[in-house]
Amino acid sequence: MLQNIDRILEEARQFKAETWDEIEQFRIQYLGKKGILADLFRNFKELPLEHKKETGQKINDLKQFISEKIEFLLEAVKEESDDPAATDLTLPGPPVQSGARHPISIVRNEIISIFSRLGYTISEGPEIEDDWHVFSSLNFPPEHPARDMQDTFFIEKNPDILLRTHTSSVQVRVMEKEPPPIRTISPGRVFRNEAISARAHCIFHQVEGLYIDENVSFADLKQTLLFFAQEMFGNEVEIRLRPSYFPFTEPSAEMDISCQICGGKGCNVCKYTGWLEILGCGMVDPNVLEFNHIDSDKYTGFAFGMGIERVAMLKYQVKDLRLYFENDIRFLEQFSAAW
Ligand code: PHE
Repeated sequence: MLQNIDRILEEARQFKAETWDEIEQFRIQYLGKKGILADLFRNFKELPLEHKKETGQKINDLKQFISEKIEFLLEAVKEESDDPAATDLTLPGPPVQSGARHPISIVRNEIISIFSRLGYTISEGPEIEDDWHVFSSLNFPPEHPARDMQDTFFIEKNPDILLRTHTSSVQVRVMEKEPPPIRTISPGRVFRNEAISARAHCIFHQVEGLYIDENVSFADLKQTLLFFAQEMFGNEVEIRLRPSYFPFTEPSAEMDISCQICGGKGCNVCKYTGWLEILGCGMVDPNVLEFNHIDSDKYTGFAFGMGIERVAMLKYQVKDLRLYFENDIRFLEQFSAAW
């Protein structure tokens, strides 16, 4: 029997396999229920006691050798299939999905680029702000509705701390730090306590602009905004300014652009008016200059602010604001060629 075991060991040693199937066959042949080792164990039971120790040892060694050999063979076949040389390199690879910039980033970058060409710097500030920078220094009266919990997210424990509702707060921070002339835009995220719908969200993005110098006039504001609109929407676009009210500007206006869809003739997007509202603007209220230690007899300035989502909606004719936040790849993919 010992000789028999040696012969089996030798045969197993000689065995070579190249495929999973061959290895599996080998396993069944040796370790299967009716395999060679099962046979050996059966015979082993019949052996006289004095031979059992040595033979038992040999059978166990053989079993271990076979198990290790199977593992080794499996590993070798696996490596072979991972080896790039084993695959056809001329086959096309799996498609790689390329990412695209988010439409809000595309439009923000475009707005930044337009105003940079006019010499505006970019300033940023904190999203968690205090009452002074968001409201008081901007001439909001104490009873203004924006100061209501319905419109602004306040920190319950300290109502002086809130999430900024506009990036005008960044411009206050610029006025605190820098003497005029100031020419800056502040892009950023803002927060308002609004019910989420196709037209409103509690988080959105703004770019606000501020220009303060000697002899800055409403005509400068209008020309700047016309330049912006033409760069953004094309030379044919027309603008119109409608009187409006903001606590921090006097006079104040809202700007409309001629509807890009119907060319001003009237359609359901512009509600048959031919115009679409795009931003708020005005001459900086002298109170705001004085609050920020800027001499309002010497300096004047203008400010404007727009929602990036709104500009992007008009530019790409997106009808539902929520699409910008859902990150549905089918929506985002459509902008891959835009930048
Ligand atoms: N801060 C205003 C808003 O958030 C926009 C604005 C900025 C209006 C500057 C006028 C001047 O709606």
